[in-house]
Amino acid sequence: MATKRSTAERAAVLREQLAQANHDYHVLDAPTISDAEYDEMLRELGEIERAHPDLLVPDSPTQRVGGAPSADFAPYRHVVPMLSLGNVFDAAGLRTFDARVARLAGGSVSYVCELKIDGLAMSLRYEGGTFRSAGTRGDGSVGEDVTPNVRTIAEIPRRLAGKDAPQTLDVRGEVYLSKHAFAELNRKRAAAGLPLFANPRNTAAGGLRQKDSRITSERKLSFFAYAIGAFEGARPAATQHALLEALRAYGFPVNEHATVCATIDDVVAFCERWEGERAALDYEIDGVVIKVDDIALQAKLGYAGKDPRWAIAFKFRAQEARTKLLDIGINVSRSGKLNPYAVLEPVIIGGVTVRMATLHNEADILRKDIRVGDTVIVHRAGDVIPYVVGPVLELRPKSARVYKLPERCPVCGSRVDHPPDDVFSYCTNVSCPAQVRERIRHWCTRGAMDIEGVGDAMAGALVDAQLCSTVADLYDLDAAKLATLPRMGEKSIANILDAIENSKSRGLARVLAALGIRYVGGQNAALLAADFGTIDALERASREELEATEGVGPQIAESVAFFFAQPQNRAVVKRLRERGVEVTAPKRERAAAGVLAGKTLVLTGTLPSLTREEATSLITRAGGKVSSSVSKKTDYVVAGVDAGSKLAKANALGVAVLDEPGLRELLGDGVPNR
Ligand code: IVH
Repeated sequence: MATKRSTAERAAVLREQLAQANHDYHVLDAPTISDAEYDEMLRELGEIERAHPDLLVPDSPTQRVGGAPSADFAPYRHVVPMLSLGNVFDAAGLRTFDARVARLAGGSVSYVCELKIDGLAMSLRYEGGTFRSAGTRGDGSVGEDVTPNVRTIAEIPRRLAGKDAPQTLDVRGEVYLSKHAFAELNRKRAAAGLPLFANPRNTAAGGLRQKDSRITSERKLSFFAYAIGAFEGARPAATQHALLEALRAYGFPVNEHATVCATIDDVVAFCERWEGERAALDYEIDGVVIKVDDIALQAKLGYAGKDPRWAIAFKFRAQEARTKLLDIGINVSRSGKLNPYAVLEPVIIGGVTVRMATLHNEADILRKDIRVGDTVIVHRAGDVIPYVVGPVLELRPKSARVYKLPERCPVCGSRVDHPPDDVFSYCTNVSCPAQVRERIRHWCTRGAMDIEGVGDAMAGALVDAQLCSTVADLYDLDAAKLATLPRMGEKSIANILDAIENSKSRGLARVLAALGIRYVGGQNAALLAADFGTIDALERASREELEATEGVGPQIAESVAFFFAQPQNRAVVKRLRERGVEVTAPKRERAAAGVLAGKTLVLTGTLPSLTREEATSLITRAGGKVSSSVSKKTDYVVAGVDAGSKLAKANALGVAVLDEPGLRELLGDGVPNR
């Protein structure tokens, strides 16, 4: 049986090896042992500690994964206060800051620019190179002691690496939650039916304030070091950039983007660059911190009140704000899709007043547990449509009510369909005025029939005045009808009529895209138009024939066939044709010229030398179509080895069957062998 001494030694060895493995994995990003080996060592150490509680030390790697619930947070006194920073919001602010620094320093000054990590400031105390305690910033002098929780952060070293670290040292930095860890956490919560977290920062903050550090541990928090507080012993560095190097050498993660900037122009460029590129990072940043590089000069510059004169925060324009969700409205799209949107108490985000935001769909509203009356977080970045991130649960009033999508279309009162396997619901009435307006608006957009002057408002006015109930009605408009609309002068009437007239000659591809057939955008419309040549041919086409078009799979074929099967759609097409809208397209040449022009072939089984793609390509280049199923309309079935039911069906229907040599013969001379 092992002696107590050898057991203590074994525990020490395991601790050392585990600490090294943690450092290699989390800091160097170069794991030296497998996860299984790591787990095995951790398990062995845990067993020893349970059998010999006196061998358990606070910085044991077993304590990282969360210990028992801690008592209340004790106050945590900062020897050197944790200060805040003054803010600037633009290049002018940066230049004012620089001018003052240069004046006080008596010359131009070099800076370090660091990304401003959007997390929680934390002070970590090391004594004799060992992690002892951790505290939040609090009021700057006294924070909360969150040591057990910080122990669960794998990236924070238990012991400082290297020999030359100060005897006691306070390391400062930011605890944060990476975007991928946040997404993963929410994925798990969604799977468990739990409400989702709103954003990484709050989730990190909540994680650190847990009484039970096992919960902290589950949040997979991270850390970046960027400063020091009190220390005893030699000063680690004379410049900020050397200090970052020293922190890295001690084993801390230090952000890789910190950059020395010799001029304020470089500082401005750094800030502007990262404001644009922040989305590409795996963690959230809310600005840039600019620090005078020379630490002796920092001391000389000193403080003005609570803010240092030697550093400043460049704050990015906010992307999120809180506001009240006053109501939930519904937009009906041209396909009848019900799109819920948030009606908000107006709020300024990044300089723009936001009154409405998308809520995606009913399932999303329920998943995020967004209720009318809630205070919600709204996100608006760049050109992205503002959206509701989620509710602020702490601020939920008793009166907040759970949202239920209406069973009747809010515009026309028709029944709403909730197809299974679809997160969206649909108005079932094709004549719904909202759908009609959206279809007309879409018909007139630039990528479709390009009718300038008919946008959102005009489309709405035409529908409201009952001048248009389908897109074909546009071609029945005249000056007298348009003059009945509000605010229509002669000139605008003439312009609209001209634009409508010109739209007649856009051709089949544009007509197909403009009709708004589900899954048929510009590209598929062009392919279908080139293959079929006329809208009549498309109307008559079976699903199989449609599928023979390159890029058209069963879903698109089904959607096109469904569209043309509706009598009201055929009526619209008929009227468009009668009004002189061009519904033909130049057919693809190969289709007309090749030896297989107009022929439909079906491939089945494995051919001796051609792959399916090669055979398809040979057939289509000769003007033929390849379909996936055999019907009476099939001209040939090309059968290889292991041909199954398709061959049987061909025989039953009396369709001609070819083998590969037969196909080559049909294609004639000059068809390359592969
Ligand atoms: S230095 C006196 N550097 O921003 C210097 N702070 O408003 C004090 N922060 O409370 C901070 N990234 O939580 C510094 N690279 C960075 C930072 C950073 C994020 C936070 C920190 C601080 C706040 C300043």
